[in-house]
Amino acid sequence: MKQTLTVNGERHEVDVAPSASLLSVLRDDLGLTGTRYGCGRGQCGACFVIAGGRVVASCLLTVDQAARQEITTVEGLANGAELSPLQRAFVEEDAMQCGYCTSGMLISATALLASDPAPDEDTIRDALAANLCRCGVYARVIRAVAKAARH
Ligand code: FES
Ligand code: FES
Repeated sequence: MKQTLTVNGERHEVDVAPSASLLSVLRDDLGLTGTRYGCGRGQCGACFVIAGGRVVASCLLTVDQAARQEITTVEGLANGAELSPLQRAFVEEDAMQCGYCTSGMLISATALLASDPAPDEDTIRDALAANLCRCGVYARVIRAVAKAARH
């Protein structure tokens, strides 16, 4: 069944079952592989995107639900070749190891800074609480978000 999705400001028509997960459509149909598959159960944050202004697990959102909302993925954070201030801060603070969790972290932190441009450390921790990192780079991620907030 045809579905129209708006992702990173672009409209896409896909022919998939309405119950397909947004994550699978992003990765397999639109080629937006920055959004990761981790647990598939809403418990790791690797697949987070912004939908309708909220951070959501794209593994749990059906494409039918997503079709009614503006979707932002990690590919939509940069302005062309220019990284967002938050992405630059992640690079400068070396806030990744394997990088598997990074896109989800960036999504959560982007949504946080959009609603609270000057969060304190506890607020940053709370905003990232649903993003799991097996490499344990949490301290560097928090430093990067704080740095982006300062700038
Ligand atoms: S893959 Fe969606 S929350 Fe883990
Ligand atoms: S950097 Fe490896 S899972 Fe977070």
